[in-house]
Amino acid sequence: MKTEIIKAYLPNGDIDENAIKNAADIIKRGGLVVMPTETVYGLGGDGTNPKAASSIYSAKGRPSDNPLIIHIANPEDAEKYAYTSELYYKIAESFMPGPITVVLTAKDSVPMETRGGLDTVAVRCPSNKVAHLLIKHSGVPIAAPSANLSGSPSPTSLHHVIDDMDGRVDAIIDGGNSEIGLESTIVKVNDDETLALLRPGKITIGELMSIAPVNVADAVTNKLAEGEKVLSPGMKYRHYAPKAPLFLLDGEKDKCIDHIKNDKQGKRAIICYSEDVGAYKAAFKECDVYDFGSRADEARQAYLLFAILRDADKKDYDVIYAPLPDTSGVGLALYNRMIRAAAHQIIKLGR
Ligand code: TXA
Ligand code: MG
Repeated sequence: MKTEIIKAYLPNGDIDENAIKNAADIIKRGGLVVMPTETVYGLGGDGTNPKAASSIYSAKGRPSDNPLIIHIANPEDAEKYAYTSELYYKIAESFMPGPITVVLTAKDSVPMETRGGLDTVAVRCPSNKVAHLLIKHSGVPIAAPSANLSGSPSPTSLHHVIDDMDGRVDAIIDGGNSEIGLESTIVKVNDDETLALLRPGKITIGELMSIAPVNVADAVTNKLAEGEKVLSPGMKYRHYAPKAPLFLLDGEKDKCIDHIKNDKQGKRAIICYSEDVGAYKAAFKECDVYDFGSRADEARQAYLLFAILRDADKKDYDVIYAPLPDTSGVGLALYNRMIRAAAHQIIKLGR
């Protein structure tokens, strides 16, 4: 299949609405369009069309029991596809449009293919203007998982999308780099009007707690036991894993440097905070050192993480080291993605 690249913006910086309408026509015909969102790029198709859902699974190489998020233009559109509640509207008022996904009981208007056979559906109203216009002009909810091949990091730039999806989709909309860089926060609204956090993201537990009590699903921070039942099917799949083994170092800089000196040799990469780049470069002249942003700047780290993992994958390292993030605030989202990328290999070195 020949993949068309559609530029979202005109040279003067305005959105090219005609180009977005053409992309919406592809969605209406049952085709696949990769769209930019504020979190990561999404692999979009008509969420009400079972065939479109099936082609999303095959383009991504994803097991079809792992459900898709449907993207809506306005929070109240959720009514057409799910049973909402007072708590849904509180979440919508505080965080929509924006990087939050809410799992609700589904209505029959969402085919089983889209929701991976579950009786719930995940709903998200993105703030990205291009995504908003694409959904609006399509006139249907857009089902969209992250636009990576299954198992690799979510794409946050056009070239990541081209690497994974060229030849697999009808069109890719070029909307520049994703602002946030990590996927949306996912919450499930429980029957007792509390929330279960299924996937952490830019919207933190602290922010959610201002609305309702929040329980954190076990799989967010822990390794699943063999056969353990999960609240979100995506949690059971291996994720974001680079080809080289990644180790997360939990300890102060000098202890990390000693550890790396005495560890496995070969072609090595070190991901570290800006403050430590100089020290690592001085200690390991033969290693590539990636600047992960300032220690306190979690927004920058979120923006960079997947791009660094993808870049590292092209370089055939024998081993990669990165710092173990703190679990407070947005750190929990970084922690959640990085322990998966590292297959839970955490080296405790002490402070
Ligand atoms: O930021 C995002 O959420 C991006 C952009 C494109 O919107 N999308 C995204 O989709 O990350 P995906 O499919 O890569 O991740 C969605 C996760 C999966 O782990 C899936 O298992 C879970 O959401 N999920 C979807 N529907 C669900 C449901 N009904 N109940 C529980 N988990 C669900
Ligand atoms: Mg994904």
